[in-house]
Amino acid sequence: MEKREQLYAGKAKSVFTTDDPDHLILLFRNDTSAFDGKKLDQLDRKGMVNNKFNAFIMEKLQAAGIPTHFVKRLSDNESLVKRMEMMPIECVVRNLAAGGLCRRLGVEEGIELNPPTFELFLKNDALGDPMINESYVETFGWAKPEQLAKAKELTFAVNTVLKQLFADAGILLVDYKLEFGVFKDEVILGDEFSPDGCRLWDAATRKKLDKDRFRQGLGDVVEAYEEVGKRLGINFDA
Ligand code: C5P
Repeated sequence: MEKREQLYAGKAKSVFTTDDPDHLILLFRNDTSAFDGKKLDQLDRKGMVNNKFNAFIMEKLQAAGIPTHFVKRLSDNESLVKRMEMMPIECVVRNLAAGGLCRRLGVEEGIELNPPTFELFLKNDALGDPMINESYVETFGWAKPEQLAKAKELTFAVNTVLKQLFADAGILLVDYKLEFGVFKDEVILGDEFSPDGCRLWDAATRKKLDKDRFRQGLGDVVEAYEEVGKRLGINFDA
């Protein structure tokens, strides 16, 4: 697979075309951002750690029957993915209260959410990724109703698989954000799953092991990501 020109550069990843129109290469960079790009930094090893973390999780999800855009890891920082038409929305599931939910509703951090909540946000940096709902998605044509229904079903299917995977490693899956796209008429999971886009707490101590370490200036960001990965059995030296 030959890497061609850069199609897009996001805040932490860049996307390249290849000689195959159905495939793209994702480059995981060390850039880290929070608060809609207002806080920026470069963290050594983060691109490599997230690329390997994402490859491990995507393979687990595929093995559980959840379709994803992930094809294979190409190098320390690059992975091959299917080229989809992305839906400009973010799907968030929360098992425990944290972050935006606590700010919006004034609920206490850490309370269990039963059943888990499902939220939608518009991917739009200029607007600060506003919260939206299913009616908005249909009215503004961001996805067809049946595509959104599939994305929601897959978002909860991911919860079933990953809550258990992390629980087995002594980690609570607090919440996470997923993005979906359409590939040959099928809704499939896109983007990445890494500690940049979810909250993970040590089950015993509730120590934060995710991007909140960066957002809140707690330090040891990549060290925490690697700790989670090692507990899952990921070998970052391979
Ligand atoms: O900020 P909030 O509490 O709404 O985030 C919920 C979850 O979605 C968190 O795990 C956060 O890391 C993730 N998220 C994300 N990208 C965004 C917004 C939220 O990965 N643009």
